[in-house]
Amino acid sequence: MRALTEKVSALKKEKNALILAHYYQPAEIQELADFTGDSYYLSKTAKEARESLIVFCGVRFMAESAKALAPQKMILLPVAGASCPMADMAVLEEIETLKRLHPAAALVCYINSPARVKALCQVCVTSANAEKIIPALPEREIIFLPDKNLGAFLAGKFPDKKFINYPGYCPVHQDVKTEEILRLKNAHPGAPVAAHPECTQETLALADFVGGTEAILRFAKAAPEKEMIIVTEEGLRYALEKQNPRKNFHFPQPPMLCQDMKKTGSQDVLLALERESGQIALEEGMRLGALRCLEEMLRLSV
Ligand code: 13P
Ligand code: SF4
Repeated sequence: MRALTEKVSALKKEKNALILAHYYQPAEIQELADFTGDSYYLSKTAKEARESLIVFCGVRFMAESAKALAPQKMILLPVAGASCPMADMAVLEEIETLKRLHPAAALVCYINSPARVKALCQVCVTSANAEKIIPALPEREIIFLPDKNLGAFLAGKFPDKKFINYPGYCPVHQDVKTEEILRLKNAHPGAPVAAHPECTQETLALADFVGGTEAILRFAKAAPEKEMIIVTEEGLRYALEKQNPRKNFHFPQPPMLCQDMKKTGSQDVLLALERESGQIALEEGMRLGALRCLEEMLRLSV
C-alpha cells in the first residue's frame, strides 16, 4: 500500500491532479483522497479546484457534475461501471410525460441524476441544501425526481408545496428494515438515531435526526451521547470514527453497502492517473443544460 501511495503522490504532482472521494467510498480510498465529502461539497470543490486533473472517486453522476462545472479540467472516473442505480432510474420519456401533465410545476432533480436529466430540470438539490432551495422556488407544485423518499421527506417539511414524486429510490437506504432499527434501539437504549433522508418514511419516523452525510457528521460531533445509531451507508463509519474516536457507532445489519461506491480500489486510482483513463466527456449542449441546473443550485444554496 505504501508503494502505491507514493506512486499516486508522484503522479499527482507530475500531472497537477487532485483526488476527491465521497464518504461512501472504501476506507483505503478515503485515506488516499485529498478531500472527502458529500455530494454538495465535492461538486463545489471540483469547480473551485486549481488542479487541472481530478480523479473522482464516487459514482458517475458525481463525475459528470464535476465535468459540467469545470469543463476545462480533465475528470477521471476510475471505474467506468460505477453508477448510481437510483440516478439510472430516471427515464427521459417519463419525465417529459410528467412535465406535460403538470405544466405549472417546477422540475427539480436530486443531484443523484445523470447530466442528461439535469439538463431538463430548472434546479437540482442535494440532501445538504434541499431544505434551503425548495422554499425559495416560487412554484407551488414541484415535480421531484428521482428519489421518492427524499421527495416524501421534503413534502413533509414544506406542506404548502405540492410534490409530484418520481418513483425512484436508493436500494441501499430503501431496504433497511424498521425491525432492525427497533432492535438497535433496544440494544442501545438512549442512543440517538441519525438517518439519511433517502430512507423510507417508516424508517425516518424512528429517527431523532434526519440529514445528509455531512449533516450526520455534524450531528454526531455535537451529540453528548457516546453511543449512536447511524442509518446510512457503511462507508460513513470511516469519517465518523476518525472524527469521534471516543464514540461508538452502530449501523444496521446486514450492512448497508452501496456496491457501486465500493467498486473503486486504490489500484484503479493509480491506473486512472497513469493512463488518464475513465475521462468524462459530455456533449456540449447537454453540458450547458446540466451546468445551468447545477449553477442554480449553487446560487440558491448560499
Ligand atoms: P450525500 O453525501 O449528499 O448525503 O449523498 C448520499 C448519496 O447517496 C450519494 O450517493
Ligand atoms: Fe446511489 Fe444509493 Fe449508492 Fe448513493 S448509496 S450512490 S444513492 S445507490
